[in-house]
Amino acid sequence: MKTVNTIIALRHTIAAWRSSGERIAFVPTMGNLHDGHLALIDEAKKQADHTVASIFVNPLQFGEGEDFETYPRTLDEDSSQLASHGVDLLFAPPVEVMYPLAQQQQTRVEVPEVSDILEGVFRPGFFVGVATVVCKLFNMVQPDIAIFGEKDFQQLHIIRRMVEDLQMPVEIAASPTVRESDGLAMSSRNSYLDSEQRKTAPLIYRCLQQAVDVINGGGDDYAQLESAAIATLEKAGFVVDYFTLRNAETLNPANAGEKNLVILTAARLGQTRLIDNLSLKL
Ligand code: PAF
Repeated sequence: MKTVNTIIALRHTIAAWRSSGERIAFVPTMGNLHDGHLALIDEAKKQADHTVASIFVNPLQFGEGEDFETYPRTLDEDSSQLASHGVDLLFAPPVEVMYPLAQQQQTRVEVPEVSDILEGVFRPGFFVGVATVVCKLFNMVQPDIAIFGEKDFQQLHIIRRMVEDLQMPVEIAASPTVRESDGLAMSSRNSYLDSEQRKTAPLIYRCLQQAVDVINGGGDDYAQLESAAIATLEKAGFVVDYFTLRNAETLNPANAGEKNLVILTAARLGQTRLIDNLSLKL
């Protein structure tokens, strides 16, 4: 696996593949890789002749008081994992390559409305940071296809919207959430949990599953379902930001009778904020 840190070196390698007509898949990450990321890489490998991954902890998507400084940075271990999963090219730029200008001068990409709900309420500016960096990375790599995890359901939705609205010639593929054996969705932030919190954390998934079971069994009092799940999580020590049933295509609150649903939740255990979701089709 080749590693590059500059846009010139990145473009040089990719240009050679492109001129031979080869298909390129791209997996953007912030590093500290776990099996969830590696599943994205495995999917990318199936979809193209060459796989490019990026590792960049994007300051633009961290708010004040969030964990930008302490976010785990494990480039050496990540590189070995990517190499052993057959990645051809790793792009690991420093901040000044991605953002040569001061943050307040940086051109931004905003997908309106849908960026201001759910995660956007609790992390203002987060999705502008994500859309901006993904747009820049797409311009640099110019992949044929890019793979994102369904765990970040709203992020996936926003990236699809950005690609559609800006007519970007890249296909967006989704890869299912990878879970620990007790159901906890894999996330780099799980490493912040202490051993007690780690035991409590899978309750999020159980609450999602219970809600899915109730709906599949004909339950359609969504407000009651949401408040029951919130009460269960709070009793176990979570501070719940949201547990909500949405239309999976629009992310608007779901009404009884709609067929394509997603249940999304974000909850904090101590300092650690966890997100998860489950989709269901009726
Ligand atoms: O999902 C992530 O890891 C990040 O939000 C992404 C897409 C790499 C952008 O920084």
